[in-house]
Amino acid sequence: MSSPPRLLAFAGSLRQESFNKRLLRVLADAARTSGAEVTLLELREHPLPIYDGDIEAKGMPDQVRRLQALLADHDGLLISCPEYNGGVPALVKNTLDWISRPLEDGSSGMGLYRGKVAGICAASPGGLGGLRALIALRDLLAKLGLWVAPSQLAVASANDAFDSTGALADERQAKSIGRLASEVVGAARVLRDLRHDNT
Ligand SMILES: Cc1cc2nc3c(=O)[nH]c(=O)nc-3n(C[C@H](O)[C@H](O)[C@H](O)COP(=O)(O)O)c2cc1C
Repeated sequence: MSSPPRLLAFAGSLRQESFNKRLLRVLADAARTSGAEVTLLELREHPLPIYDGDIEAKGMPDQVRRLQALLADHDGLLISCPEYNGGVPALVKNTLDWISRPLEDGSSGMGLYRGKVAGICAASPGGLGGLRALIALRDLLAKLGLWVAPSQLAVASANDAFDSTGALADERQAKSIGRLASEVVGAARVLRDLRHDNT
């Protein structure tokens, strides 16, 4: 039996009481149930400046190197992404952009994404649940070379969506997150084998 796929999970929000952090925990638990090892990444512990080529030219920030090393050690990403003005928050784009920059050996950071899997979800107090951000995020991740699972979940009215244990109160949403997790974990296994066959 092959080793469990490893997924790196982060929410695109820094705030303590973030709905997306809550949703990410639900997705991470579902992915573990589906057989993955999940590393929860708290972006507040990895503060990055807004991308600036002059900063990079002076020497890549240590935090970028740490995030690149983390992604190198994982088979894919789980992201719960807030929607800001119909799009992806700067935090998410900036984090993905820094990671895509060249590695210490000069190879492209894009290689850290290529051929890996991503599972995406969103939560918002609003009525669309962050659906428009997911459309933009899916496009962005695909451009980075990730295979984005067809299932996704946008949780509307997020202030009422979680029960006291942190689980999704709505049974259909709970099923959807399980389906998403199982798609991601299944694809992570297949894509990992493909990557290894191609190296
Ligand atoms: C700059 C900004 C823009 C926002 N734009 C949207 C939006 O387009 N759609 C939406 O559903 N919510 C929008 N919101 C509300 C967020 O969904 C809400 O703050 C949410 O709680 C953020 O996610 P978090 O709970 O994980 O921090 C916006 C919030 C901010 C700060």
